[in-house]
Amino acid sequence: MRGELEAELILSQPPPGGHAALERLLPGLAEEALSRSLGKGATGRVVSWTLEGDRLTLTLTADNSRAHQALLALARRLREELGRREKIGVRSLRAIRYRVGFDVPEPPTGPVTLPVPHELRFDGTAATLDLLDLDEEALRDNWSDRAVALVDEKVRRQHYRGKEQYWKLLSQSPQRELTFHEDPTEAMLRRNWLKNGPTKGKWYLGPLPAHLLRTMERIAVEEVLRPLGFEEVIQPHHDSFDILLRTGHLEGLPGEFYYVTEPKSRDPADWERFTDLVKITRKVPEGELAQLVSPPVAVSCYAQCPTTYWWLSGRTLAQENLPLKIFDRAAISNRYESGGRHGLERVDEFHRIEPVYLGTPEQLLELRKQLLARYAHVFDRILELEWRTAWVTPFYMAQSGEVGVEDETQRVKGTIDFEAYLPYRGPRDTAEWLEFQNLSIVGDKYTRAFTIKAQKGELWSGCTGIGLERWLTAFLAQRGLDPTGWPEGFRKYAGELPREIKFL
Ligand code: SER
Ligand code: ZN
Repeated sequence: MRGELEAELILSQPPPGGHAALERLLPGLAEEALSRSLGKGATGRVVSWTLEGDRLTLTLTADNSRAHQALLALARRLREELGRREKIGVRSLRAIRYRVGFDVPEPPTGPVTLPVPHELRFDGTAATLDLLDLDEEALRDNWSDRAVALVDEKVRRQHYRGKEQYWKLLSQSPQRELTFHEDPTEAMLRRNWLKNGPTKGKWYLGPLPAHLLRTMERIAVEEVLRPLGFEEVIQPHHDSFDILLRTGHLEGLPGEFYYVTEPKSRDPADWERFTDLVKITRKVPEGELAQLVSPPVAVSCYAQCPTTYWWLSGRTLAQENLPLKIFDRAAISNRYESGGRHGLERVDEFHRIEPVYLGTPEQLLELRKQLLARYAHVFDRILELEWRTAWVTPFYMAQSGEVGVEDETQRVKGTIDFEAYLPYRGPRDTAEWLEFQNLSIVGDKYTRAFTIKAQKGELWSGCTGIGLERWLTAFLAQRGLDPTGWPEGFRKYAGELPREIKFL
């Protein structure tokens, strides 16, 4: 990586000694700044400079990515020396052009765009990026490094696109004899158990499916979580942008959130025109409303674990609390599914228990074993499902827009998906199975992002989302709606069922 920086400094006034005065000062300060900021083994220099009145322009090169830091250091020293000797300040500092040369892993296959003023050229895998007009804050904030990383990511993505998601079978339950072949959502709709919600991708569950969903919840809590020592927390339902910036969700999934806005005011006087329009037109005055609410300030819960990491951010966990095992079932997840919606299994709003665990790598590997055993107990003996598990592209990479697959050979960090066979979708070997559950160890990705530490040693984390609509769909798709087809273990948990409601 090499950098060439053309910069402009505007002084508070032309130096009295003019060019000659700077000639005595600049080379020494430049050398000092370069040697301090570029680091060992790297070289750089001020190639040329000119002073016209109060405008100092200079070109600085470096054979690594730190040219902008050398410039900032030089500007700081100039400020000190000019201030002390001549009472002159530096009013502004900017890079007119910052050229960075670097290599990408493969030649790009299409255009690569950036949202800041720039020019970008490729010669095979050699990239030359000119960032134009960077102010001091952008220099200080390392925009150049981030722009280079983004170009690299975009080129990788061009090559990655179209490649299959990683998927490797881990375990498979015995085949079961399944006699129900309907889409359970259709069947429930026919019997008025459900109604498509008043807004997109949401369902109103009548007493029967609500009871069954809560039964699933009880099974998860009593058969998996309590026996393993998980404790319940109650978390807020809105995720702040700060949280999503730290997890990477904001750059990974901006098109899948439900955004939250606030009224700009709660003073009825400010809403008078709006309410008057409602009274007269009996319609929503949409334009008027848009004026009265804020831009989005948060998102409705997408996954629960980010907020739990926020809760623990900046904390050091005591040895005696590790592994920390908690779960949330209060926040309800919202995802903008658009084209992907289907039945109760692919919805914009769903109920999930999200257990989160933090501990040493060894503790989490042990916990994963225990969780897998408890889940197997539930799916084999209580729900009697036909199910399988697979090692897949980790959710935290998919959700933060990262490219690639992690550790599929080592299988320490990563995600296991649990999938159920849905007979209505066709033969088991060709139909798509339903992911109804996952289990991940994410390593230190989130503990690092939120600065969560252990009293001793390394702290890892993970989560295992239990999607209750998914559990219910998987179960009903295999077992049908008639309780006589349900396994004894589930019937016991469900107890007495609410009566079906007949509409006339
Ligand atoms: N956070 C996970 C997910 O979003 C759930 O465990 O898939
Ligand atoms: Zn999670």
